[in-house]
Amino acid sequence: MNQYINPDYVPEPEKMNVKKGLEGAVIDTSSVSKVNPDTNSLIYRGYPVQELAENCRFEEVAYLLYKGELPNEKQLKDFEFLEKNYRQITPNNLKVIELLPKSCHPMDSIRTAVSFLGTEDNRIWEKDPATQFDKAVQLLAKIPTMIAADYRIKKGLPVIAPRADLSISENFFHMCFGNIPDPKIVKAFDVSLILYAEHSFNASTFTTRVVTSTESDIYSATVAGIGALKGPLHGGANEQVMHMMKEIADPDKARQWMLDALAQKKKVMGFGHRVYKSGDSRVPTMKKYAQLMADVVGEQKWMKMYNALEEVMVEKKKIYPNLDFPAGPAYYMMGFEIDFFTPVFVMARTTGWSAHIMEQSANNRIIRPLSEYIGAEQRSVVSLNQRK
Ligand code: COA
Repeated sequence: MNQYINPDYVPEPEKMNVKKGLEGAVIDTSSVSKVNPDTNSLIYRGYPVQELAENCRFEEVAYLLYKGELPNEKQLKDFEFLEKNYRQITPNNLKVIELLPKSCHPMDSIRTAVSFLGTEDNRIWEKDPATQFDKAVQLLAKIPTMIAADYRIKKGLPVIAPRADLSISENFFHMCFGNIPDPKIVKAFDVSLILYAEHSFNASTFTTRVVTSTESDIYSATVAGIGALKGPLHGGANEQVMHMMKEIADPDKARQWMLDALAQKKKVMGFGHRVYKSGDSRVPTMKKYAQLMADVVGEQKWMKMYNALEEVMVEKKKIYPNLDFPAGPAYYMMGFEIDFFTPVFVMARTTGWSAHIMEQSANNRIIRPLSEYIGAEQRSVVSLNQRK
């Protein structure tokens, strides 16, 4: 055991107000989004996420998160013009991605590439709202290019340059696979980006706000956010869901697999949520598009398995799927390698992170909580030769 706990320590529950995992702690105000677990709803700047997913493109939602309002036609045209012009990354940034070990996880690649992007910005310390917005758009535009380049490099394929005549989703397929699939598949992907874009003070967003609160820069905050998102209890769960489904392999074995997992008290990836206790607001929409993917590719196996696993988990534990549960098989059926699922989450969540970074910057106070000390009582240092 590497954590020393003072044996004389007596907890004083009435004095000690530890909120393990910050459960229930309200850290600040925010106007970016609201999760309401009682009604299973999630709104971005007042708009229900389901309505945004069905009626808007990801670009409109990105604008909404950054600016607070949905764009009109002219605003969207200008915004897309700016974003499209920022898609290229520098040859040096590409070289950095090429130099990374082929075996490294794509989340490590994107974390490094975003970090390098920060070193290329000679206005890194400028934080007026217009400059912050411009940097946010650069992250939105360049992150997909970095992820797709890493995807191709890892496969030993030539990198495909971004195109300025395509939407973010179309262009991502183009840069990864060299073609743009059926519009239904593009829509399913676009919906996933909208659903993944923002989710109030989740672990990675809170991380970006902590870094921003020290008056650090947007790249450092984003790099920290990527680090937090990588973990399997957060964004990394979408990859783990697919590994689990591949391990189960047969939908007819899913029920027994889940019963065994629960008997062994395993944490089953893609289920549960800190805030939602009776279902994740984003799941019905994503499940619908995962089912659509299954119909398009003509493969029902994963959705059968989805339903079987969900049924047992709800029946036995009343724990519901979170967004990563439908997103995992949906991305798999779109043709992405499993370890690129969480980087796709990054290309969506950069919008929410940047919105929170801008909000934190605009009304900042350093985030500095306390801890309850359970270590040794105060004591004096004895000289080295007298220590036992
Ligand atoms: N599988 C099995 N049991 C689960 C579970 C899961 N995915 N999620 C929660 N539980 C159980 C816990 O074991 C615990 O049971 P207990 O009270 O008998 O000990 C209870 O539900 C409460 O869970 P807890 O771990 O305290 O919830 P949390 O708020 O700290 O954690 C998550 C939330 C999301 C981290 C957790 O549900 C989890 O690890 N899920 C899997 C990873 C995942 O899908 N992450 C993506 C989140 S969007």
